Amino acid sequence: MDIDLKGFISPGSEEERLVQQLDLSRLPRHVAVIMDGNGRWAEKRRKPRIEGHRAGAKAVQEIVESCARLGVKFLTLYAFSRENWKRPKKEVALLWRLLEDYLRKQDKDLIKNKIRVMVIGRREEIPESTEKELERVEAMTRGFDRLTIVLALNYSGRTEIVDAVKKILQDGDLDSARLDEEAFARHLYTVGIPDPDLLIRTSGEIRVSNFLLWQIAYSEIWITPVFWPDFRRRDILQALVDFQKRERRFGAVHARPSEGV
Ligand code: FPP
Repeated sequence: MDIDLKGFISPGSEEERLVQQLDLSRLPRHVAVIMDGNGRWAEKRRKPRIEGHRAGAKAVQEIVESCARLGVKFLTLYAFSRENWKRPKKEVALLWRLLEDYLRKQDKDLIKNKIRVMVIGRREEIPESTEKELERVEAMTRGFDRLTIVLALNYSGRTEIVDAVKKILQDGDLDSARLDEEAFARHLYTVGIPDPDLLIRTSGEIRVSNFLLWQIAYSEIWITPVFWPDFRRRDILQALVDFQKRERRFGAVHARPSEGV
């Protein structure tokens, strides 16, 4: 059993009330997050946008700990989209630096908690120093599987699909008769990673922003008005409680025993 809630929940707290509502044997295997609202969080406090990203990096630590303790196996974080290059140069540089700093500081925790780090996205366009750090952390954590953090970096769902088609054409080992959804998915960046069960988006925006377009076909979507830097364990618990109330039908009909068809 991977669940470890010791010291995680204070007695009498809202978090405790939420945990009590959860069926811990039916948690999503894969949670994906569009971390949005860092800029607005900062603006509201009359701080530079980058302070929002800094606070966002702290919220990352909290969701990682929550997922590891609850036994969620995969956590995908949309940390930098291909569209994010259009932001001011200074903000872009700082975002990559924040990510590098985050990775450098996480060694002990990743090893102690047996957390693996993986990357999805167009890697060849990631700044060299960040790429080096990513390769180091990926190699260091390769053998771990308590939780896998999948960092979506320089990521675009459409680019991922185009890259998959390119790989299929380049490899030349797949004819149209044998090309089905499973074979196609083996050429995506996410090969080996199950599709997300739950997609969370913060800051109240109701769109998917080019994130995991193929993989979220049947994900449950949960949107909260909370800005990402304010996202805490009570919010992830709330998302999980809500997820468990949904009836996942994957396009089929779940007839109740008393109902005929
Ligand atoms: C969206 O907020 C957030 C991002 C583009 C970057 C996410 C980065 C982090 C949370 C920090 C570092 C990441 C890791 C994994 C340590 P926004 O800037 O678009 O907010 P806005 O819509 O309010 O302007």
